[in-house]
Amino acid sequence: MSEVDVRPLAESEYRQANDLFLASLNVPERSSEERWRRSVTRYEPGRAFGAYLDGELSGTAMSLSSSLEVPGGAVLPAAAVTGVGVRADRTRRGLLRELMHAQLADTRGRGEPVAMLHASETRIYPRFGYGLATRTHRVSVSRFRAELRADAPAGGQVRLVDGPTAEKLLPELYSRIATGRPGLIGRSEGWWSTRLFGTLENGGAQRIAVHSDESGTDDGFVLFEPAKSDHHFDDGSITMQVAELHAADAVATASLWRFLLSLDLVTTIAAIDRPVDEALPWWLADRRGYSVDRLDDDLWVRLVDVPAALAARSYGAEDPVVIEVRDAVLPENAGSYRIGAGGAEPSDDPPHLSLDVDVLASLYLGDVTVTTLAEANRINVHDPAAASRADRLFATERPPWCGTGF
Ligand SMILES: CC(C)(COP(=O)(O)OP(=O)(O)OC[C@H]1O[C@@H](n2cnc3c(N)ncnc32)[C@H](O)[C@@H]1OP(=O)(O)O)[C@@H](O)C(=O)NCCC(=O)NCCS
Repeated sequence: MSEVDVRPLAESEYRQANDLFLASLNVPERSSEERWRRSVTRYEPGRAFGAYLDGELSGTAMSLSSSLEVPGGAVLPAAAVTGVGVRADRTRRGLLRELMHAQLADTRGRGEPVAMLHASETRIYPRFGYGLATRTHRVSVSRFRAELRADAPAGGQVRLVDGPTAEKLLPELYSRIATGRPGLIGRSEGWWSTRLFGTLENGGAQRIAVHSDESGTDDGFVLFEPAKSDHHFDDGSITMQVAELHAADAVATASLWRFLLSLDLVTTIAAIDRPVDEALPWWLADRRGYSVDRLDDDLWVRLVDVPAALAARSYGAEDPVVIEVRDAVLPENAGSYRIGAGGAEPSDDPPHLSLDVDVLASLYLGDVTVTTLAEANRINVHDPAAASRADRLFATERPPWCGTGF
């Protein structure tokens, strides 16, 4: 069998790698020159890899420099893994495996204790130690039924901004307000450049509204655009798709929803990536105007440096448990860790619980309990009393939420 060689891509190979990735996802078109000028800014030197078979570029994976907020508020440097694809005639020959191993070694070498990604298919990444760590709601709101109650939070102003203005405002605004919940991540410059490509000024349909509080400080924004349809005024229905809505507090969030619900001619607001505990249905006079269409899996997390990642988050007030972690891909992580209210550290004590590193990642941000994962036979429980203690140690005030596609 031919040897797979994995190495960082040269700059001159970025576009070929990007086209390979788009083809692997069955995206119908290649990047236009204009779009590529934006997309290329996502590539950071040394962070994009090629897998070569018989000397030919046949697979690729890259990461953006990012960060991840963990329970307790610490923000860890993180690799946001994306652009993963293998040429259709060269799949199932171990190219992804080689790419993943090279990328995890690179992430460790950079001192980034976590890697994260959104998975095209859920069965691909657990073998490399990634566990599902946050989930989101996909919701629809009927504009004619979904009036906000008189006591829903209100205040400040909403204004539309054009693309160039958004490019100046949004990166700073996002990094100022996207805090206070585990799962929120940092966005690179290249990420923003690509995200804002489809605005009206660039010939796209994407529009942007910004909320500012009573003192005039910007504290929230929403990106939205109409779904493609051949609607007519007499019998048409227009769905407005919300790509993302981030806000500092309930007043800004409710005000942006109120704005969306005031858009003339629109029948439905469809939003992806909403937090599972969003208060919107409680703000509505008729909550049946709101529906959760899907619970999506969102961020998959890989604890690349388990001791560092465990030590970085906070834990609930409870007696300690000792957890044995198995990690076949990065065996330096394998071992037992004592986790208590004061923190986490390696331990030689006999374990109360044993689990694989991808299962630990699912517990890490607080999305699921130890009890549930033990019921799923994903955790070996050696001491039943320890499972409920671990539930209280890993519990978070709010469910984690990412809300950023990449
Ligand atoms: C997913 C993809 C990158 C896998 O690449 P690949 O080179 O075929 O994967 P490998 O041969 O290295 O497979 C490694 C292991 O993962 C398994 N695997 C790979 N793709 C899988 C899939 N789609 N579903 C389930 N298992 C999969 C393989 O069977 C193999 O298992 P093993 O460890 O038991 O032998 C490739 O199929 C692809 O490009 N798919 C379309 C684009 C895409 O989905 N990209 C991911 C974006 S998040």
